[in-house]
Amino acid sequence: MAIQQTFLMVKPDGVKRQVVGDIVDRFERRGFELKGAKLMNITKELAEKHYAEHAERPFFGELVEFITSGPVFAMVWEGENVIALARLMMGATNPAESAPGTIRGDYATTVAENIIHGSDSLASAEREIGLFFGEEGLVK
Ligand code: TYD
Ligand code: MG
Repeated sequence: MAIQQTFLMVKPDGVKRQVVGDIVDRFERRGFELKGAKLMNITKELAEKHYAEHAERPFFGELVEFITSGPVFAMVWEGENVIALARLMMGATNPAESAPGTIRGDYATTVAENIIHGSDSLASAEREIGLFFGEEGLVK
């Protein structure tokens, strides 16, 4: 398994709940390396690009509204198998099914506000890192 990079983002609910520090701590403890991070507001345009795969879903409008409702904490993490391992650490998309001990399992109860985003594949990771950071936005 190769060294990968993934895009993770604490959503507005997580920033409001002040769990950014805990989330960063979890990935540091696991042994991953932080390559980029910023607190930022997402424009509607960026939100629609980021979630383009869900454009036809009934929840798309609310999803874009939610993700632009307050600052997010965007990050790029690097390490062995980090894309899949970060998804495991996040827990299931629907917190009703997220195991306790996972990020969503510890902090969330509803799918609409589930604390964290993480890339779901190598292609998504490359696309999302490009959208939010570009290569010049990361440390070597
Ligand atoms: P998705 O990409 O399926 O999940 P994940 O974030 O685990 O990759 O969906 C993107 C986000 O859309 C999800 O985190 C929360 C929201 N969402 C809803 O609000 N309702 C839904 O039924 C689904 C599937 C997702
Ligand atoms: Mg997804």
